[in-house]
Amino acid sequence: MSSIVDDYVRLTPRSREHFERSRAVVPAGATRSLNSWLPHPVYVRGGKGPLVWDIDGREYVDFLNNYTALIHGHAHPAVTAAISERLESGTSFGFSTELEATLAALLVERVPSVERVRFTGSGSEAVMFALRLARAFTGRMRVAKMEGGFHGAQDDVMVSVRPPPAQAGPIAQPAALPETHGLPPGLAERVLVLPFNHVDETTALIEAHAGELSAVIVEPMLGVGGMIPPVPGYLARLRELCTTHGILLIFDEVISLRLAPGGGQELYQVTPDLTVMGKIIGGGLPVGAVGGRADVMALLEPRGGHDMYDPRAGGPALYQGGTFTGNPLTLAAGLATLRELTPDRLASLDALGDELRRRIADLLGRLGAPVTVTGAGSLFTIHMTGGPLRTFREVRRADSVLQQGLFLGLLNEGVMLAPRGMGSLSTQTTALHVDRLVDAVGRVISNLCDGGAARGARG
Ligand SMILES: Cc1ncc(COP(=O)(O)O)c(C=O)c1O
Repeated sequence: MSSIVDDYVRLTPRSREHFERSRAVVPAGATRSLNSWLPHPVYVRGGKGPLVWDIDGREYVDFLNNYTALIHGHAHPAVTAAISERLESGTSFGFSTELEATLAALLVERVPSVERVRFTGSGSEAVMFALRLARAFTGRMRVAKMEGGFHGAQDDVMVSVRPPPAQAGPIAQPAALPETHGLPPGLAERVLVLPFNHVDETTALIEAHAGELSAVIVEPMLGVGGMIPPVPGYLARLRELCTTHGILLIFDEVISLRLAPGGGQELYQVTPDLTVMGKIIGGGLPVGAVGGRADVMALLEPRGGHDMYDPRAGGPALYQGGTFTGNPLTLAAGLATLRELTPDRLASLDALGDELRRRIADLLGRLGAPVTVTGAGSLFTIHMTGGPLRTFREVRRADSVLQQGLFLGLLNEGVMLAPRGMGSLSTQTTALHVDRLVDAVGRVISNLCDGGAARGARG
């Protein structure tokens, strides 16, 4: 492990220098909590297709793709052309452009549950508005989310994302733990935490609290929490419980939308009431969207007033908006991206993802290393713990020091993943890039585990 850190420091001196400079004006030297780590982050100069270069001039195969957002890699010609073309006509306006309805229609066509769409500036904002819609529609104030579920930065979902096992409580009643300093009090009253993939415990919790719940929000496949697919029947049970008790089922498909043309809901054949989208639908520019049932989305229709307070209806309208929401650059980039993402291209991408997970699993088997690869389609995570991993608490067993070693070791090898071992493919990833990842994982894990079985299988 120490040799990995030494190599990393030796290979990235400019990033080190920049880190020191940046910290003087940017806390932690990065404007996104995830982008800073010890001993120092790598700073990027640019990228093209599947590759990224850092400010030391090193090249990486990018399996992070900005946390799964860049489904066509960096600076894809069709996406770049769409942005350049729109750029000439202005970057944002106080009125809507026709592009909103064009991209919305494409999403309505592809995503089974989506009848109407509103765009937002980010996935986090989309979650905030989806929860607001659910509260307004049901008249109930509490929301249920999964332990290990990540839904962005806003207060009501920064709860039990990576809870410390010692404080997480029994599986039949997971604790609602703050994920960050600075949350307002009353978390447990506002948020019910459910154990993903535990069908009976989830059922009992929802039934016990049904009358208070406005929504159950869930990623069809746990994303940041470890790329854990749902066990058969889990999402269908959530659907059934929500229907029975008048609770809105919200699928957060910010990551999982790439699992099929219609996202995780198409793949797993369960239809939510509302869907949160983001990442790939903005073609690499800031984006989010809420879509869903026409009757729920109708709460956003004007009720007579033109401002936040609606005099004719005698109360406030449901507010949603943002200065850069639906800006034409994002919408043009998103349209170009989704049009390039034909069902055939998506199928090839998924096949390469299957191949990647199979080869890593074979390698880990040969090495005899207590390491597991999970995921579906073009999404994967390498966990520094033995499998199988079906629940978040199993994922949480991963050794965080070894996980950091894997991340830094792969950067030394010229391969970019998320610090937690999460990765994704883009349509620019080829079998040769997968070879490079598999070889690099073999070398780094042999070094980290350094056991007899691991050494024997090296090379
Ligand atoms: C499932 C999920 N929901 C919401 C978000 C928040 O999106 P954004 O980072 O655009 O605010 C993320 C971001 O990674 C995510 O993975």
